[in-house]
Amino acid sequence: MAFHVRGLRSLRVSPISPISKPTRSRLPLLASMSSDSERYSLPDQVARFARANEEKNTRFLDIDSVYDGSYLKGKRVVITGGNRGLGLATTRELVAQGAETIVICRSSTPELDEAGVTGIVEGVDVTDAEALAAAADEIMAKGGAIDILLNNAGYFYGPEENVLDDSLNFDEQLKQIDICAVAPLRVSSAFVNKGLFKEGGRIVIISSQAGSAAWRLVQNPEGGDYGHHMSRAACNIAGVLLAQELRSKGIAVGLLHPGFNKTGMTKKYEHIWEVEGAVDASVGAKRVLHETKAISMETTGLFINCEDGLEIPF
Ligand SMILES: NC(=O)c1ccc[n+]([C@@H]2O[C@H](COP(=O)([O-])OP(=O)(O)OC[C@H]3O[C@@H](n4cnc5c(N)ncnc54)[C@H](OP(=O)(O)O)[C@@H]3O)[C@@H](O)[C@H]2O)c1
Repeated sequence: MAFHVRGLRSLRVSPISPISKPTRSRLPLLASMSSDSERYSLPDQVARFARANEEKNTRFLDIDSVYDGSYLKGKRVVITGGNRGLGLATTRELVAQGAETIVICRSSTPELDEAGVTGIVEGVDVTDAEALAAAADEIMAKGGAIDILLNNAGYFYGPEENVLDDSLNFDEQLKQIDICAVAPLRVSSAFVNKGLFKEGGRIVIISSQAGSAAWRLVQNPEGGDYGHHMSRAACNIAGVLLAQELRSKGIAVGLLHPGFNKTGMTKKYEHIWEVEGAVDASVGAKRVLHETKAISMETTGLFINCEDGLEIPF
């Protein structure tokens, strides 16, 4: 590892080429689509996975059939929450593809320490604007501007929340909104204002299908789970506004649902992992990085399901 803010070792700076134009533009594709079913992913997760199996949809079932992470070689990428779960898997994949990878986290793990990253900026909570500004300074000082920011850190309160059994937890709702909605904006804002993006930089916000109000009609026929869904809906509106504001800077923003991944966060849903198509986080990481490649000024502000590459309605 080249730098670690708590216990600095050595600093490696690789030559970096500007991010190449994405090979795929989504807009012409969307314009030519005739129906919502071609444009939008399916809200029913069981039916979505069953359809993918029926259609032998290799894009969905075998990400290796389409994924090419070579665009990441030599790119300087920052990821939040890369110490475990999907973030750790994405970090490992970034390193495997030759990206100069810097992780921002609260505390490292033995797995992250072994991942071969360029830097770890530890002791940073994504709810702490001062710590994020200092992290941005540190990253700029130790290697300069970046190509991609991946906002991955997130939090999902355990118990279900319902009005009718009086189980709402307002503190937990605000905590989820702080971490899942305000934090991606907080991190992105710190990086933009510190001039940390190279020309053509991209911001990825790992959101969740949970933020789609339209999909609640199918996925939550009885309502509930307020804090989680509210936090991702707020995350999505922040992402759309950020995409609009950063057009003038040429920074593209992508909102990505990473699919259903077998991580600590979804352990409570272990009983439905297989029927709903949950995947190992290493697969989820490739799906995320496949869709990250497609983020451009033509697609900025779209909300994409990384399972099938289709849009999710807000
Ligand atoms: N797994 C899925 O199926 C799924 C589906 C939809 C969306 N997502 C989203 O994908 C992302 C990764 O999920 P995951 O499954 O890997 O979750 P996870 O296993 O629970 O990991 C969450 C990560 O976020 C970090 N984090 C949480 N609160 C933080 C804070 N206040 N400051 C800094 N870091 C913080 C955690 O760090 P600590 O170790 O310090 O706690 C950890 O690295 C999340 O944004 C999640 O909402 C996941």
